[in-house]
Amino acid sequence: MTTAELIEAPSSVATASNSTTMKALVYLGPGKRSWEEKPRPSIHEPGDAIVRVTTSTICGTDLHILKGDLPAVPAGRILGHEAVGVVEQVGTGVSKFRVGDKVLVSCVTACLTCDFCRKQMYSHCRTGGWILGCMIDGTQAEFVRIPHADGSLYSLPAGADEEAMVMLSDILPTGFECGVLNGQVKPGDTVAIVGAGPVGLAVLLTAQFYSPAAIFMIDLDDKRLAVAGQFGATNVINSSDGNAAKRVMELTDGGGVDVAIEAVGVPGTFGICQEIVAPGGRIANVGVHGKPVELHLEKLWDRNITITTRLVDTVTTPMLLKIVRSGKLQPAKLVTHRFAMSDIMKAYDTFGNAAKEGALKVVLSN
Ligand SMILES: NC(=O)c1ccc[n+]([C@@H]2O[C@H](COP(=O)([O-])OP(=O)(O)OC[C@H]3O[C@@H](n4cnc5c(N)ncnc54)[C@H](O)[C@@H]3O)[C@@H](O)[C@H]2O)c1
Ligand SMILES: [Zn+2]
Ligand SMILES: [Zn+2]
Repeated sequence: MTTAELIEAPSSVATASNSTTMKALVYLGPGKRSWEEKPRPSIHEPGDAIVRVTTSTICGTDLHILKGDLPAVPAGRILGHEAVGVVEQVGTGVSKFRVGDKVLVSCVTACLTCDFCRKQMYSHCRTGGWILGCMIDGTQAEFVRIPHADGSLYSLPAGADEEAMVMLSDILPTGFECGVLNGQVKPGDTVAIVGAGPVGLAVLLTAQFYSPAAIFMIDLDDKRLAVAGQFGATNVINSSDGNAAKRVMELTDGGGVDVAIEAVGVPGTFGICQEIVAPGGRIANVGVHGKPVELHLEKLWDRNITITTRLVDTVTTPMLLKIVRSGKLQPAKLVTHRFAMSDIMKAYDTFGNAAKEGALKVVLSN
């Protein structure tokens, strides 16, 4: 044993607060994950902060990664891009946060200075974007390194409801920006949302800022559709019989909807949107697609429609934070299951069988 090893030896029996390791949920390649010991993150760049994760959750996109749908994610990656926590350490370049601050971690990392950030397109930040839990280690751990902390963290009040706040990391800005804003939902509009998962339900909650006249929610899962009914959907449609588009056309007297929002990420659901969009309407795609989708321009070329796509930019997070704090939006209603972070393997089993388990958002606490 060298002198250096002798000096370092006590760290392996150190207390939790000064340990050099932590527990984390690690992606081990398609279909494989484990809760294992990893080195604790440290400051790499002056703009970094280390956050001790107090609350996290699992996203549908984490399941896409586990299925192998995002091959750019390497084995060994710690998953997760949603969290609330406490700042543990800051780099010398961090000006907005101090050790001990309670913070929301955004799923998107933003330098605030590159050309895309200056266009408020944080999702395409030259040195950030959606990298957490995908290109760099994520939040399903005891600690996480957040690059560009000044642009990627938000201050939270000490007594903030963490379960509500963690919905602001991803699903609320995603539903609002990619669905509601891109779909240009207006007062009196007829809106259809295909997919009643957490993201589709976030679209449903935030579309109501604009008082649409009707909101149709389409899914295969009656439990999720029942939740949608409680959250303000005017009609729910189970599409398992293949007749969802026909039903929407009946409900709109053959006219179709002003806004069709795709929140699943499979060809069939984008197909429904193409069938039900009214002349002059908008199709806003939110879902992450792994397969090609047929575009029916032979039917749509003369319909004056707009089709939009977007990776969430999280530019509306400060506004959504204010609404959640006011109590006017209550995203904690989406939480169906709670686990200790150390039980995350079970939490994944539950979330992975969402239909059977009746799961929407699964909250993990450290
Ligand atoms: N654009 C972005 O920036 C962004 C950000 C976050 C998530 N996403 C994507 O949004 C999508 C929704 O996310 P989520 O977390 O709510 O996912 P989820 O898997 O929990 O929910 C998807 C819902 O779609 C339903 N569904 C599946 N197949 C269907 C079909 N053929 N017809 C009707 N309904 C069907 C399921 O029953 C489920 O309720 C995912 O593709 C996710 O990757 C996109
Ligand atoms: Zn996500
Ligand atoms: Zn940038």
